[in-house]
Amino acid sequence: MKLFHRIIAAAAFLSASFAISGAAAADNAPADPSQHSVSRHYDPLPPSPRPIQLFAYERDNRLYYAWNADGMEWHAIDHGWLSSDYGAWGAEKKMHDPYLYHDKANGMWYCIFTPNPDDPVFALTSSPDLVHWHVQNYYPMEKAPRGYAPFIYFDSGEREYYYIEWFKKNERMLENVYATRDFKHFSLAESPSRYLKGGSIVKLGGRERSGNIVTITKAELDAILAAKAVADRREALRGERVTGNLRMPRGIRANDLAAEVAVDLNRTKTISPLLWGIFFEDINYSADGGLYAELVRNRDFEFNDLDHGGWNALTGWTVSDAIDLDGWHDLNDWSVSEGAKATVATDDPIHKNNPHYLVLEAFAALVNEGYRGMVFREGDSYLFSVFTKCLDGNEAALDVRLLDDRNNTVASGTVTAKGKEWTKTELKLTANKSTDRGKLALIKSGGKVAIDMVSLFPEKTFKGRRNGLRADLAQTLADLKPRFIRFPGGCVAHGNGLGNMYRWNRTVGPLESRVPQSNIWGYHQSAGLGYYEYFQFCEDIGAEPLPILPAGVPCQNSSRGGKGQQGGIPMDRMDEYIQEVLDLIEWANGPADSKWGKLRAEAGHPAPFNLKYIGIGNEDLIGDVFKERFTMIFEAVKAKHPEITVVGTVGPFCEGSDYEDGWALARKLGIPIVDEHYYQSPGWFLNNQHFYDTYERGGTRVYLGEYASHNGPRTSTIETALSEAIYMISLERNGDVVAMSSYAPLLAKEGDTQWNPDLIYFNNTQVKPTTGYYVQKLFGNNAGDTYARTSANLLNGSRSIPDNDETAPLRKRFASSCVIDSKTNTATVKIANLLPFEVKTTLKLDELGSAPVKATKTVLSGSPDDVNVRPSEPETITLDKSSELTLKPFSLTVLSFPLK
Ligand code: AHR
Repeated sequence: MKLFHRIIAAAAFLSASFAISGAAAADNAPADPSQHSVSRHYDPLPPSPRPIQLFAYERDNRLYYAWNADGMEWHAIDHGWLSSDYGAWGAEKKMHDPYLYHDKANGMWYCIFTPNPDDPVFALTSSPDLVHWHVQNYYPMEKAPRGYAPFIYFDSGEREYYYIEWFKKNERMLENVYATRDFKHFSLAESPSRYLKGGSIVKLGGRERSGNIVTITKAELDAILAAKAVADRREALRGERVTGNLRMPRGIRANDLAAEVAVDLNRTKTISPLLWGIFFEDINYSADGGLYAELVRNRDFEFNDLDHGGWNALTGWTVSDAIDLDGWHDLNDWSVSEGAKATVATDDPIHKNNPHYLVLEAFAALVNEGYRGMVFREGDSYLFSVFTKCLDGNEAALDVRLLDDRNNTVASGTVTAKGKEWTKTELKLTANKSTDRGKLALIKSGGKVAIDMVSLFPEKTFKGRRNGLRADLAQTLADLKPRFIRFPGGCVAHGNGLGNMYRWNRTVGPLESRVPQSNIWGYHQSAGLGYYEYFQFCEDIGAEPLPILPAGVPCQNSSRGGKGQQGGIPMDRMDEYIQEVLDLIEWANGPADSKWGKLRAEAGHPAPFNLKYIGIGNEDLIGDVFKERFTMIFEAVKAKHPEITVVGTVGPFCEGSDYEDGWALARKLGIPIVDEHYYQSPGWFLNNQHFYDTYERGGTRVYLGEYASHNGPRTSTIETALSEAIYMISLERNGDVVAMSSYAPLLAKEGDTQWNPDLIYFNNTQVKPTTGYYVQKLFGNNAGDTYARTSANLLNGSRSIPDNDETAPLRKRFASSCVIDSKTNTATVKIANLLPFEVKTTLKLDELGSAPVKATKTVLSGSPDDVNVRPSEPETITLDKSSELTLKPFSLTVLSFPLK
C-alpha cells in the first residue's frame, strides 16, 4: 500500500510538470476496439477503458474541469462543480487555487482551495465522484496563504501522513505545511517532500488556465458528463415561463382541450394539519417600524454604528434649543433659553442592558419623527411613557406634544420628572386631528433631567395588547389563518457572527432590560417585539409557535467575527448554551412557579403557552462545526423534552452539499422534521411538482420553511403566484411527508426593503398584500387534515391526451388536489390552470351520489405579468357528482363544500 501511494504521488507530479507546456501525456496507449470485434456478442463490446486526464481549475470562483483522453486535446466542460461557501454574501465568496487529490485508500476525492488569500484559513471538501461535493470545512493556518497555492502529497514512508503544502507559485518555496491522516485533523509539519512543485497550465479556449491534472476512469468521466447534461436540462426547465406563448403538440388544438378532475372521497390519507404557516423575520423593517406598533424610533438611545454605518445614540432624534410650535406664531409661547444642552450618558443607566440615555439641560426640545413619520388619527388615543430622573434634584416638567408635519399640536400633556432614581411616567394623549407625518416632541424648560425609553404606542393595537402589534398588519397576517408562526428568522435567528445570534432570553422581561442589537439586514432591533410578544401573537391567532434557535453557529454568510460561519460557540460554553435552549421550553411551558415559567407569569401569562416545536438552526453550513453542536443540542432536547418536536435544517437550497449532508445527518439522528429553503424561478416550480412524491415516508418529514417563486424583476405576479399555487397543490398531495410550509419573506416596508419579493408590502398607513398573498390565503383558509385522491387529466376532445414529452408542457400546467377538514367536515378542491386558455372541465365527485351540494367558488386569475391581483368574491354554485366548470386561463379555482 505504501509503495502504491508513493507511485501515485510521483505520477501526479510528473504528469503535472509535463503539462505545463501544453497537453499532458496519456497514461496508457489507446485501446484497439477491433480486438473485440470477433466476439459473438450482437453489440460490439465497448473499447476497453483507458485512463483519462482531468484538469481541474478555477474559473469565476468555481471549480471547472476539462478532460483529455489522447494526450493532446483538452475538452472543457462548461459547468461549475464547486463554489466557495466561505465569507459573507456575494463578492466575498471566492475560490483560489483549487487542488484535486484522489485518495486511493478510501476512493475519495479531496479539493483544497484558498477562500481568501488574506485570511489564514484553507477550505477542504470531499467527493465520492467529483460531481457531488460534501460540505466545506475551513481550517485555520499559521499564515495567510497570499501568493501560495496548495498541493497535497502522501508520504508513504514511515509516517504515512498526507501533507498539504503551500508552494509559492512557480517557485520552489514552501510555507504552511500541514500533516493529516484523516483530512479532518491537521498539525503543522516539516515537509518530507521539499521542493515538489504542483500545478499545471493548460490552454483552454485560447486562454491559459492554471490548475492540476489527475487521472480518472472512463466511468468517472461518463458520470461527470451525464451530470452536466442533467444540469443543463434542469437549467433549461428552470428558465421556462408561464406565458401566453405555448407551443401546442401536434394534433391538439386549444379549442378542443378539455379536462377531467376526478376526486375519490373514499381514498384518503392523513396529511399534516399544519401545512400552511407564516415565516416572520425582522427583515425589511418588519418588526421595529413595522408589525411592532411602537412609534418612536431609537426610543432607548441604543442605535449605534454596528446597526448601520454612521448611526449613533441620537439617530432619529433632533434636539434643539428652540421649537417653532403650532406654526410660526407659537414660538414665543415658550421661554427659549440659549443653547440646548443634550448629552448622551452611560453611568447608572436604567438597566445595564440599556446603557445609553440622554441628559437634557437648560431648555431643550427633543423631537422624534418615528419611522418616516408617525400616524395619528383624530379621536384615537396614544400611550406615551418615559423613564426620567432629575440629576439636579429638582422637579422638571416635560411638555409632551404630538405634532403634525407643520408642528401644529395634535395632542399635548405634561409629565413631571421627579426624584433622583429612574421613574417611569405614563400619559394618554388623544389626537384632535389626523396626520400621516406626525412627530413626538418633548419640551423641557428647566432642570437637569435624564431620560430614556421614550415610547409612544397607539392604544388601538391588535387585540388591544400593551406593547402590542400594529392592528392592520397583524390582522392581515391573521387573515391568512396560519397554523403556525416561525420566528424570529431567517438569518436574524442565527445572526451576523457569534456575537449577533438571536438569544431568546434577552428579548423577554421588562422592555428596559431587554438587549437590543444590530440586525443582520443593516438596522437596529429594539427587542421590543420579543419572545413574549411572538408567543402572545401566536396564541391570539390560534397558530402554533415555531421559534428557531441558533444551532450554536452563526449565519454562514456572516461578515463579522471571521468570514462566514467561521466557528461555533466554544465547546466549553456549549453546556451553558444548551441550558439556554432548555430554558426556553421551561419559560414557555413550565408552571408559573418554575424558574423560567415565573418570568412568563410575571409578564402576564401564567398559563403555559403549550410550545410543541422548536427549530434548531437556519439554513446553516452543515460542516463539522455545525454537526457537533446541533447533535449536542438535539440530543439534550430529546432527552429532557421528548414531547417537543425538533425541526432541523438542511441548508439554503434544494440540492447541493448542505442539502445532502443535512439530510444524511437527519437520517442518522432521526430528526423528526427538517427545514428546507429554496427561492426558485416559476419554471422550477412548474417542473418540480413531483419533488416530494419520491421522498421516503415514515422517517424525517419536511418543513418547507422558506420558498417563493422569483421572476426576473423579483415582483409578485400572476405568473409567480400561480407557479406557487400549482406547487402548493403538490404539497397538499405530499402532506404526509411535508409537515409545514411558509412563504418567505413575509413583510416589507416600502422604502426600507432589503429583499424582494415579499408577501405583504406596507407603509405607515397602508397594507398592500401581493398576488402571492392571496394564493397563501386561499390555501390557508381552505386547509385540511386529509387528502382525497385527485386526478387531473387533460383531454383532446373526449380522448385523454397522450402522456409523452410533447404533451408535457400542457400537462404540467394543469393540476388539482382535494383536502378535507375533518373538524368542519368540509372538502375543498383546488384546480390550477396555468394554460393560456380556458379549459372546460368536468369535476367528478362520485361520492356525492344523487344529492347535489352548494359550494363556494373563488377564483384568482389574470395575465401572467399582472401584479396586485385579488381573488373574485366567493360565489355559490351547485356541485353534482359530475359538474361542468369553465376554468379561466391562468387561474386558481377553489371550490369548497360540506360533506354529508
Ligand atoms: O427570507 C430571507 C432570507 O433568506 C432569510 O433570512 C434566510 O434564511 C434566507 O437566506
